[in-house]
Amino acid sequence: RKPLSHRFLRHVPIIYVDYPGETSLKQIYGTFSRAMLRLMPNLRGYAEPLTNAMVEFYLASQDRFTQDMQPHYVYSPREMTRWVRGICEAIRPLDNLPVEGLVRLWAHEALRLFQDRLVEESERRWTNENIDLVATKHFPSVDRDKALARPILYSNWLSKDYMPVNRDELRDYVKARLKVFYEEELDVPLVLFDEVLEHVLRIDRIFRQPQGHLLLIGVSGAGKTTLSRFVAWMNGLSIFQIKVHNKYTSEDFDEDLRCVLRRAGCKDEKIAFILDESNVLDSGFLERMNTLLANGEVPGLFEGDEYTTLMTQCKEGAQREGLMLDSSDELYKWFTQQVMRNLHVVFTMNPSTDGLKDRAATSPALFNRCVLNWFGDWSDSALFQVGKEFTIRVDLEKPTWSAPDFFPAVCPLVSNTPSHRDAVINSCVYVHQTLHKANARLAKRGSRTMAITPRHYLDFIHHFVKLYSEKRSDLEEQQLHLNVGLNKIAETVEQVEEMQKSLAVKSQELQAKNEAANAKLKQMFKDQQEAEIKKVQSQEIQQQLDEQTVKIEEKRKDVVADLAQVEPAVIDAQADSVVTTAVSNVHNGHSEHEHGYPMLTINKKQLAEVRTMANPPLPVKMALESVCLLLGEDDRGGDWKAIRAIMVKDSFIASIVKLDTSHIT
Ligand SMILES: Nc1ncnc2c1ncn2[C@@H]1O[C@H](COP(=O)(O)OP(=O)(O)OP(=O)(O)O)[C@@H](O)[C@H]1O
Ligand SMILES: [Mg+2]
Repeated sequence: RKPLSHRFLRHVPIIYVDYPGETSLKQIYGTFSRAMLRLMPNLRGYAEPLTNAMVEFYLASQDRFTQDMQPHYVYSPREMTRWVRGICEAIRPLDNLPVEGLVRLWAHEALRLFQDRLVEESERRWTNENIDLVATKHFPSVDRDKALARPILYSNWLSKDYMPVNRDELRDYVKARLKVFYEEELDVPLVLFDEVLEHVLRIDRIFRQPQGHLLLIGVSGAGKTTLSRFVAWMNGLSIFQIKVHNKYTSEDFDEDLRCVLRRAGCKDEKIAFILDESNVLDSGFLERMNTLLANGEVPGLFEGDEYTTLMTQCKEGAQREGLMLDSSDELYKWFTQQVMRNLHVVFTMNPSTDGLKDRAATSPALFNRCVLNWFGDWSDSALFQVGKEFTIRVDLEKPTWSAPDFFPAVCPLVSNTPSHRDAVINSCVYVHQTLHKANARLAKRGSRTMAITPRHYLDFIHHFVKLYSEKRSDLEEQQLHLNVGLNKIAETVEQVEEMQKSLAVKSQELQAKNEAANAKLKQMFKDQQEAEIKKVQSQEIQQQLDEQTVKIEEKRKDVVADLAQVEPAVIDAQADSVVTTAVSNVHNGHSEHEHGYPMLTINKKQLAEVRTMANPPLPVKMALESVCLLLGEDDRGGDWKAIRAIMVKDSFIASIVKLDTSHIT
């Protein structure tokens, strides 16, 4: 916005139009209230206290919260109008609404209009208390518990009308719807913590109002876009988001805008136009949105051919609705009305004070045409609930674990004696909190800080879950290996046992065999010993034999020697023709062959002497008988005369000498 120059201002009178004061407000909204309550007999009398309460609370808020505190703390009579309108819309279908119901509705609208935008917890508390205070002051007779018990939640999801609802019932319903939504549209599960439920209701409330536009302010990842889409989906609204790229210009934006307006204006399509501040590449975009919010149209958007086509489309649309509109003006008016009814703009912004201030200055409509909803950051309870939900499949139970004496619980949801699961999630939230603390420390020192958002926390949890399951499956695999190994070992043990059994049998057999072998060995040994003995004996015999051989040899030598002595005598005797009488000495016969014959040397004279004997001594007779026998002569049975006849023969001596003893048998 450009300030007007002094040169220009010099030429024009300036009239400052301020917001109406208390009296005027009471007058204006008193009229509205009376008109509204006229139709409700039992509430008719409460028009004045209602107006007074509204005005008082409005003024107090306006006083308390200024743009110096937050750029978006803008309060104008538009709030008052919305307030009356909100009450009016809600009570119209209800008959016999008790005054408590009226007060509750009044408080509910006040909370939505005045509290939802507040940043600090203390500011929200102030609003809460002040609402109660004002309500009791102006409606002293109402049942406070009935009228003002928190939480005040209104919805028409569980009933036909817009009615107070029970949080748990509503949660169940929204949870079921949310499940369908993320299965159909998102593929990421969403967690329905308390704040989400409240935000969903707030967005829904705006989508149900004509010209209901929203400004959602919250850190990245708080769920602004997602929840808007969810509520739009629930109410059957089409979602429109511009797709910006680096060549996206105002022209493209105008084209997109025309497309949205045509769909909402001519085709009667209900549309939620979600515009993030990061999509606002050019201040022109906001300028156009500003006028769109303010007037339901953007002057100059449809011109020339575009306008003609639009008119044709409007005509068709109006005819479909059974309206006979002819002139372009009428058609255009109908078109803007349709747009106001069907188009809901949702701005999403990140809460940086400078950015907000800028926007507040350049695009005031953004703040006073939209209902503000401060998403802020996720509370610790929200972080805890989200952590719990996303780790639900992770096996974190540990029954033996017990909490330490000092346990730094991060939120009231964690009990003093938490389970192991709660403690793990508690520590996740705790770690996330420390990032904020670190940021605060850095900011104090004037260093650059890093925006810490729920996205980081979600990443953290997802990584944790992923790592946990990875490690777990690793471990399981190892365990499997181990089990296989153990089974093998058990099998082997069994096999070994069996083998041992068979071994025992075998060793018994072996023992028997051993024994047999031993017996055999002993036998062998014995046999050997015997053999040895026999050997010794044979050796002894051999020795004896040897000895005898030696002796024989000696004897032979002796004999040979004797023979040698005898031989010359024999030879002598042969030479002298000595009659030799052989005396048989045959017991040593084997030497006869070698050495001739042992003989008694008898000379002829001796022989003649014997021959002369008539009656010789017996031994002589016997000897001569033997000789005759040996010579083979016939002695006629020892007849001495026959013997003498033989002896007389000349050949007698010679036959004795030549007798071959070997022929003696
Ligand atoms: N209640 C929730 N439960 C679980 N996850 C959530 C919830 N709200 C948001 N998220 C997660 O955060 C992501 C971002 O949400 P969303 O896009 O709505 O944030 P945003 O506020 O629009 O952020 P930005 O300012 O960056 O546009 C979602 O895709 C979702 O994964
Ligand atoms: Mg977003």
